[in-house]
Amino acid sequence: MSERSTIPTAEAPQPIQIRTLSYPDLPQVIAVERRVFPTPWSLAMFVLELSKESGVCLAAFTEERLVAYMICSRYDTVWHIMNIAVDLEYQRRGLATALLAELYARVDDPRARYTLEVRRSNAVAIHLYEREGFRGAGMRRRYYQDNGEDALVMWRTPATLTGSLDDVPNPGPV
Ligand SMILES: CC(C)(COP(=O)(O)OP(=O)(O)OC[C@H]1O[C@@H](n2cnc3c(N)ncnc32)[C@H](O)[C@@H]1OP(=O)(O)O)[C@@H](O)C(=O)NCCC(=O)NCCS
Repeated sequence: MSERSTIPTAEAPQPIQIRTLSYPDLPQVIAVERRVFPTPWSLAMFVLELSKESGVCLAAFTEERLVAYMICSRYDTVWHIMNIAVDLEYQRRGLATALLAELYARVDDPRARYTLEVRRSNAVAIHLYEREGFRGAGMRRRYYQDNGEDALVMWRTPATLTGSLDDVPNPGPV
């Protein structure tokens, strides 16, 4: 398993490196988190996720500046994408796509199932996930405490990649 990988980013002026996220990176993560989310995670939430041995936590750097990150936890056989964010001026350059590609490469299992929750109003993120083969498979009503917004539950599985929800547990209306 490679700990560092350099990705080609046609639009990015500087090369971007993806590597495993570690505790010393967290101050930079918190700064990005506060810029991009109205209700940011606390430092304690990131520390908890990094402490889980089975997770995959990645960060993208340009030179030594952290510009994007992704937190993924494994529960039993399912990979939960808990958080993904790209700093404002680095969005729309393929960084989230590259972080997800690195996640799939590290999990390295064609039978792997991935899931996540996303705000119903977050059309940009939903578009990204649909492009990645995720499909909406249920709703969690009033999931977000800050504004009572519903969460769309999305899955990426061998079945969703072929257009069905056959291997998604308990799919519901979206
Ligand atoms: C959602 C987010 C992570 C996407 O990151 P990104 O690096 O900009 O995404 P990419 O450049 O890899 O884009 C991949 C696809 O996402 C979609 N997308 C990204 N930005 C978009 C935009 N501004 N408008 C519409 N679609 C967009 C497109 O489908 C895009 O593919 P395309 O450029 O070929 O059309 C980023 O916008 C972000 O950090 N947003 C704030 C935090 C957030 O909402 N995180 C998700 C929580 S569930």
